[in-house]
Amino acid sequence: MQSMPQLGVGTFRLEDDVARRTIIDALDVGFRHIDTAQFYGNEEQIGDAIQTSGVARETLFVTTKVWHENLEQGTFIPSVHESLSKLKLAYVDLLLIHWPSPKDNIPMSNYLSLLKQVKQDGLTRHIGVSNFTMAQIDEAESILGKGEILTNQIELHPFMQNRQVVEHCKERGISVTAYMPFAVGKVMKDETLIAIAKQYRATPAQVVLAWLEYKGVHAIPSSTDKSHLKDNISYTSVNLTGEDIVRIDELDNGERIVNPDFAPDWD
Ligand SMILES: NC(=O)c1ccc[n+]([C@@H]2O[C@H](COP(=O)([O-])OP(=O)(O)OC[C@H]3O[C@@H](n4cnc5c(N)ncnc54)[C@H](OP(=O)(O)O)[C@@H]3O)[C@@H](O)[C@H]2O)c1
Repeated sequence: MQSMPQLGVGTFRLEDDVARRTIIDALDVGFRHIDTAQFYGNEEQIGDAIQTSGVARETLFVTTKVWHENLEQGTFIPSVHESLSKLKLAYVDLLLIHWPSPKDNIPMSNYLSLLKQVKQDGLTRHIGVSNFTMAQIDEAESILGKGEILTNQIELHPFMQNRQVVEHCKERGISVTAYMPFAVGKVMKDETLIAIAKQYRATPAQVVLAWLEYKGVHAIPSSTDKSHLKDNISYTSVNLTGEDIVRIDELDNGERIVNPDFAPDWD
């Protein structure tokens, strides 16, 4: 059974044939970790692509996320069955709570006990959370018990390094997964990252992925371009020096891209 690969392919905004083709291309270049969500509306296309690819199920690590409007007792478990049916899978590898319930409308213990139940029923191998603050991580851990939360998936890129949350999770043995690791393409235009990339005949995308691995953080960048997908999966050829790491660390300016009105009070 697969543990969570360091690098996965993101699928936010990918629709219809673009979603299908992207996943077929990603599997072809070697990705085995796929990140989707009920909210992305592409679980069906991802399921089609997995089936078409012929890649063995047990070699894949597939994540989906329960949308915050599905956290109620009556909708949570049916929504997971619907995700599995669209993905054409008997189980996912990781099921995340996409966002904590806005303003704690639904008590965390209610929906986390459903998350745990889904794992006990074999519908997911691992469970985790996304967009949880440090206080919410503590509350989740007190409800689920230590060692139950595999990851907290949060916005993290060179311009928004979320260091306190990363430390907080690591101290508790919870991995961190960086979403929007390329700040939706902005990292490609950054002069520091371009300069570091030049030294290694690499790309800014590869430099960012090498930096994230150095930080002990998983990453799930998305790309609809097969040459970019290849570029991303070959980031391991880049060996950053301590000096490069410091230069990238200095790019942090707290620039948050994802901040919907239902977001928690960020740390
Ligand atoms: N949990 C959450 O709340 C949450 C929120 C947001 C996102 N996510 C997850 O995180 C994933 C990643 O975030 P994202 O897709 O929004 O942004 P991202 O991965 O930071 O950036 C994607 C952009 O980077 C470009 N790109 C990718 N590789 C490249 C390369 N090698 N060279 C040049 N450009 C490249 C892509 O363009 P091309 O298509 O042209 O390559 C695309 O425009 C999502 O897909 C989703 O799975 C989770």
